[in-house]
Amino acid sequence: MEQIYITRRLPDEGLRLLEKYDLDIYEGDIPPSKKEILRGIQEKDALICLLTDPIDKDVIDASPHLKIIANYAVGADNIDISRATKKGILVTNTPGVLTETTADLTWALILAIARRIIQGDDMMRKRKFKGWAPKLLLGQDVHKKTLGIIGMGEIGRAVARRAKGFDMSILYHNRARDRKNEKKLNASFVDLETLLADSDFITLHVPLTTETYHLIGRNEFKMMKKSAYLINTSRGKCVNETALIQALSKGWIQGAALDVFEHEPQVSSRLVELPNLVLAPHIGSASHETRGKMAIMAAENVLAAFRGEIPPNCVNPDALKKEFK
Ligand code: GLV
Ligand code: GLV
Repeated sequence: MEQIYITRRLPDEGLRLLEKYDLDIYEGDIPPSKKEILRGIQEKDALICLLTDPIDKDVIDASPHLKIIANYAVGADNIDISRATKKGILVTNTPGVLTETTADLTWALILAIARRIIQGDDMMRKRKFKGWAPKLLLGQDVHKKTLGIIGMGEIGRAVARRAKGFDMSILYHNRARDRKNEKKLNASFVDLETLLADSDFITLHVPLTTETYHLIGRNEFKMMKKSAYLINTSRGKCVNETALIQALSKGWIQGAALDVFEHEPQVSSRLVELPNLVLAPHIGSASHETRGKMAIMAAENVLAAFRGEIPPNCVNPDALKKEFK
């Protein structure tokens, strides 16, 4: 019987589908160490892992039977995909199901930073609210402003659809222009410089790759409006955090709202001390419904690989090509 190593207890909806297999589940509630992952993967046929688990050459090479690495995330930047492909091991992710949930969180962050919700909540809890006042916690309007979307994939488009309700103008930048959706979303394709200079809210929806690493740094912050806000629900490493701290403390931009951090789970104390910032602990896809669907998807990817099929969410179908074997 096939054996599966799972690096954390996933929602039951997914585990139920794998009942008849031999499951080795890491039961901790912080990411397992590399040593633990190397122990767990021995002799296993499948690995289900999280975005917090670095799946490098050592891990990939540790089980001669490994057929599939099923990431419980849409991003797969934690996996050495080219190594897996060379060894004929399939890699899968969980796209689609978390698109709308992540777009919802992006909007929660846009509204929270613009309307100073966290500062207001803090004031209430500290019993500092003394009554309605003309200049109490004034923020910025969101409606009718310009939203700049960097990365117009599924999540970027879901964010753009929601912007319609706020009568916003939408600028986007993407590797490829997407004329069909431009019309539907009323979005204009611009170069990165124009997007940075003209947007009031700039939101990142790119995968982490060598091209998007530190996509936003000192030069980019300097191009933004002083009144601009940066929103990041993609990957922390897409933003140079040192430059972000500078931009926020020197007033190059108005504020930022972040769900992801460059050195997760470490977050610089200089960042945390800044007032013009909303911080969330990487919860973009964290709804009961979506985490359940992601678990089902990861399980179904494993089941397909066990049947000898290319799984529905395979990111490296080349792994099954003969020349790689
Ligand atoms: C979350 O960040 C994911 O990639 O699923
Ligand atoms: C706000 O509560 C207002 O009535 O203006």
